[in-house]
Amino acid sequence: MTMQSPLPPKAAASDPNARSSAAPSPVLKLAGVTLRLGQHEVLSGIDLRADERRIGIVGRNGSGKTTLARLLAGLVAPTEGTAEISGVDMAKDRKAALRKVGILFQNPDHQIIFPIVEEEIGFGLTQMGLPKAEAAARSHAMLERFDKAHWAKAPVHSLSQGQKQLLCLMAVLAMEPALIILDEPFSGLDIPTRMQLMRYLDGVEASIVLISHDPAALRDFDRVIWLEAGRVREDGAAGPVLTRFERQMRLWGEEDDLSDLSG
Ligand SMILES: Nc1ncnc2c1ncn2[C@@H]1O[C@H](COP(=O)(O)OP(=O)(O)OP(=O)(O)O)[C@@H](O)[C@H]1O
Ligand SMILES: [Mg+2]
Repeated sequence: MTMQSPLPPKAAASDPNARSSAAPSPVLKLAGVTLRLGQHEVLSGIDLRADERRIGIVGRNGSGKTTLARLLAGLVAPTEGTAEISGVDMAKDRKAALRKVGILFQNPDHQIIFPIVEEEIGFGLTQMGLPKAEAAARSHAMLERFDKAHWAKAPVHSLSQGQKQLLCLMAVLAMEPALIILDEPFSGLDIPTRMQLMRYLDGVEASIVLISHDPAALRDFDRVIWLEAGRVREDGAAGPVLTRFERQMRLWGEEDDLSDLSG
């Protein structure tokens, strides 16, 4: 069965992508981005300009959120179009891409490289050119910030899944990138850690793109982009976009056919 739910009308608010051409490079600038992986067109014709500091991305499973995050981090190049972060073409300048964007993957096991906690946090810092002693000091400061100084020498495999997620996050934050992309960072975290993390993110100067299935986590954001089947379905102020998103999710949830995931 295909889903026949009526689509809610598009947000009629002023176009958040419209900017004067004289303005400096926006943090995010995607022009005509299409990405095909094998036979599958995973992202289709995405145009986006964004300068907001807190941008949320929502969408069903398989709608292309993680793929878009990977593209913004320069990990995959668009098949067509261009993706720039603060004026840097992410597919062309890998070095700049690494410096500018920190990404926290959905699954921490895909991210962690080193066996010991402090090594994992320190690695990115030494890659950035910091002397070892300074990298170690910054790693420890980050651990202390989250009350985890006692983790420093711990083997990574001794951490729980949520603890590994927090470790990856600390490794990303320690590098102080201009843009931080977080792909479902809360899924494995307990409530106090989640609250601690949200408070921390509130104080971070970097722009943040947060992918979440939890609309409540994005309510205070400056802007929310709703992806559906690889396209931007809505893009605008968090309140109205999330309200329509939640309504649509409930409508789809009331249907019985779980096989009809958007991918
Ligand atoms: N390497 C690949 N080759 C072919 N198709 C892919 C590849 N990676 C992802 N896809 C497809 O792209 C679509 C979008 O995947 P993506 O992981 O970006 O979705 P998502 O919105 O992050 O979903 P979720 O909410 O489950 O994390 C899916 O249909 C997926 O099967
Ligand atoms: Mg995903």
